[in-house]
This record gives sequence, C-alpha cells and structure tokens, in this order.
Amino acid sequence: MKITVLHGQNHKGSTYNITRLFLDKLAGENTEIVEYYMPGDTPPACIGCCNCFVKGENQCPHAEVVQPVVRAIQEADLVILASPCYVLGMTGQLKTFLDHMGYRWLPHRPHPQMFCKIGLAVSTAAGAGAKKVTKDLRRHFFNWGIPRSYGYAKNVGATNWEMVPAKKKARIEQEVSRLAVKILKKQGKVKPGLKTKVIFKLMGLMQKSSDWNPTDREHWEINGWLNGKNPW
Ligand SMILES: Cc1cc2nc3c(=O)[nH]c(=O)nc-3n(C[C@H](O)[C@H](O)[C@H](O)COP(=O)(O)O)c2cc1C
Repeated sequence: MKITVLHGQNHKGSTYNITRLFLDKLAGENTEIVEYYMPGDTPPACIGCCNCFVKGENQCPHAEVVQPVVRAIQEADLVILASPCYVLGMTGQLKTFLDHMGYRWLPHRPHPQMFCKIGLAVSTAAGAGAKKVTKDLRRHFFNWGIPRSYGYAKNVGATNWEMVPAKKKARIEQEVSRLAVKILKKQGKVKPGLKTKVIFKLMGLMQKSSDWNPTDREHWEINGWLNGKNPW
C-alpha cells in the first residue's frame, strides 16, 4: 500500500503525533509512505491566474512545486490530510496547497485514479473546531473523486502534545487503532457511492453542453467519459 501524507504544519505537535500513530498502525511490510510538510514543501499562494483550469496544470507558475505533490497523491492508495485547527479552519498553508488542486475537482479534470482511493482527514483543536476541519478536508477528498473517506477529529484540550494527559493519549491510541483496522479492511475494495456517481454524470452532461473550457472538455473526451466510460 502507498500512503501520501500532507501535514498542514511543519511542527511536531498533537496533529503530527496522532498522524504518526495512524501511520504506525496502518503500515505493513510493503507500505511506502511519502510525506510533505507545509509550508516548507509546498507552493506559495495561488496568484489567481487560472492557468491551471484554462491552459493546463503545467502552466501554473508554481507547477514545479505543485506537480510532484499532485503525482504523489495520484499514486497513493491512501491519502492523509492532517491539520491542526486554526481559527475554526484548516491551516492557511494547507489551504494554500489545496487551492492549487482546484483543477482536479469533479467539475474540471478529476484524475481517473482517484476513484478507488481512501482519504483520511486528521485534525486536533484545543477546545472546538477539529470536526469542522475534518469535514472540510473530506469535502476536498469528495471533490477530487475519492469515494471513501474517514475523519479523526480530537479536541485535545492542549496547545501541544506534551500537555495532553497520558490517559487521553491512551484513549486516542485506542480510537486510532480501531479506525486503522477499519481502513485496512476497506483497502483495495473501495467503489464510488451513488453521490459520486450522480455528481460525476452531471459534470459529464455539463462538459457535453458547454465549451467554455476546452482544456477540461478534452480531458473528459480523452478519458472516454463523454461516451459512457466511467473511471471506476
Ligand atoms: C493560530 C491558531 C489558531 C487556533 N485556533 C483554534 C480554534 O479555533 N479552536 C481551538 O479549539 N483551538 C485553536 N487553536 C489551538 C490548536 O488548534 C490546538 O492546540 C491543536 O491541538 C494544535 O495542534 P498541533 O499541536 O498539531 O499544532 C489554535 C492555535 C493556533 C496557533
């Protein structure tokens, strides 16, 4: 199994340590893990040129930094997005990267390999907001075409991992183990549900009836999706 992790922060706090626990529980002998830390490994803010949508992703001024990360996501079986909660949302640096993935959303050019992957969203907050972050990250998975995603949200009551009491850490470890077992059981068996299928078909109809973006349209044509083929 290949796992790609996008850490929405550079430091090793509660979110990092919980993500590490997941990796320990999920990894087997043949597991390959690729990890990116933000903002160190990721691009500067999107400049709004829309080149990725209209002219193609390689015309993005940040393509050199963005594309290796995108390829690692596309090659993974499991994608993990992890972020502490900052003012009731994901970190700005993770959002900055995710903006660069807009062209891969279902209305544009979803990658055919996305439709069999699993996503895992991890977030921690001191008191409130971790669930809001995982919900938002799972919305990104859905819009990339990833049919199955899980969320692990924890309000840890602390501003760093050292402050989290041992009893709470033990409970977190149990919850992480349970969710990791669930994910491993689903690995390799994931298929899109009705919601993905319906939205995908609607997007196909939109591509057929619209010529506003020939780059998107060509992607759907090349993949045979306008002639009844499905990516799953
Ligand atoms: C800029 C900033 C904003 C934060 N906003 C929230 C918040 O909205 N709600 C909350 O409960 N905690 C908030 N926190 C606390 C962190 O979410 C919390 O301590 C989290 O567990 C930190 O994870 P980390 O150890 O991985 O950095 C904020 C922390 C920072 C630095």
